[in-house]
Amino acid sequence: MANSITLQQCLDKCVEQLQGSDVFFGHGTNNAVDEAYWLVLSALGISPQSTELNFGLRVDPADQEKVQTLLEKRITSAIPMAYLTGEAWFYGLPFTVTSDVLIPRSPIAELIAERFSPWLAYPPARVLDLCTGSGCIGIATALEFESALVTLSDISKEALLVAVKNVTRHQLQQRIKIIQSDLFKHLGNGEYDLILCNPPYVSDEEMSELPREYLQEPDLGLRAGADGLDIVRRVFAGAAKYMADGAVLIMEVGNSEQAVINAWPEVPFTWLEFEHGGHGVLLLTKEQLLAMSDST
Ligand SMILES: C[S@@+](CC[C@H](N)C(=O)[O-])C[C@H]1O[C@@H](n2cnc3c(N)ncnc32)[C@H](O)[C@@H]1O
Repeated sequence: MANSITLQQCLDKCVEQLQGSDVFFGHGTNNAVDEAYWLVLSALGISPQSTELNFGLRVDPADQEKVQTLLEKRITSAIPMAYLTGEAWFYGLPFTVTSDVLIPRSPIAELIAERFSPWLAYPPARVLDLCTGSGCIGIATALEFESALVTLSDISKEALLVAVKNVTRHQLQQRIKIIQSDLFKHLGNGEYDLILCNPPYVSDEEMSELPREYLQEPDLGLRAGADGLDIVRRVFAGAAKYMADGAVLIMEVGNSEQAVINAWPEVPFTWLEFEHGGHGVLLLTKEQLLAMSDST
C-alpha cells in the first residue's frame, strides 16, 4: 500500500473483497456496496450521515491499512459491522449496540415513520415496547410521538443496560421508563394504547441453519422453541390485560408468519405491508386478543 488512492477506489476494492468472501449481509445492509460504505467510512472516521461525500478524497496508505484491518476482521470473524463499530442505524438514527442486543433491523421502523397510519384511532399516549433489546423500537416511537410515555421492557439485564445508553443518547429520560421483566410479569398494572413487540421467533430448526453472523447475536433474542412460537404464544395470552380499550398489538414474527397462521387458523390477523422490505408483522386489536383467549 505505497500510494494513496481515492475514496471511490477504496470503496471499490472493499466491495470486491466482500463479494469474494462468504460474509452474509442482513444486519443493517443487504448488499456488498452498502456494507463497504459503512465499513470504509467507519474505518476512516467519516460519519455515515455526511451528505456531501467527496469520492475523490485521497486515502493515504495508513488509512488504507485501517480499512483493510476492519475488512479482514469482518470477513474472518463473521462479526456483523454493527458489533464491530458499536453502532447500528434504525429509523434513520444511530443506536449504540453491543453483542448483548440484537442488531436493530425490524421493519417496524417504517410503520413508526408513517405514524402507524392508518392503524391507530388516536396518537398513543402510553406505549409498551416489549422485548426491547437496544430500545430502538420504543425510542423511535417516543421520538415520533412527542408526548407519548414509553415503557421499554426486556428479560435481559445486559440488554437493558444498552437500552439505557440509547435512552440517554436520544435524551428521552423524561418520557421513557425501563422495566426488567419476563414479558408481562413485572409490568404492574400499566394500560397501554399501543404494544409493540419484536420477540424471539426463530424455531430450533431455523436456528441450526442460520448464517454465522446470526450466531454472534444473543440466543435469547432469537431462539423460541420447536416451532418458534414459545414467546408469541405467551404474548397473545397476556397482552389484552395491559391494553386500553381501542389499543392494538403490533408484533413481528418474521419467517414464523406461516407457523402463526397454522397455529391460529381461526384468527383474522392483519398482516402489515412494507414499502422498504420486510414481512411477518401482524396487528391484533384488544378485542381480537380477548376473543382468542375466550376460545382457548
Ligand atoms: C428479537 S430481539 C428484539 C430486540 C429489539 N426489540 C429489536 O427489534 O431490535 C428479542 C428480545 O426479546 C428479549 N426476550 C427474550 N425472552 C424474553 C422474555 N421472556 N421476556 C422479555 N424479553 C424477552 C431478548 O432479550 C431480546 O432482547
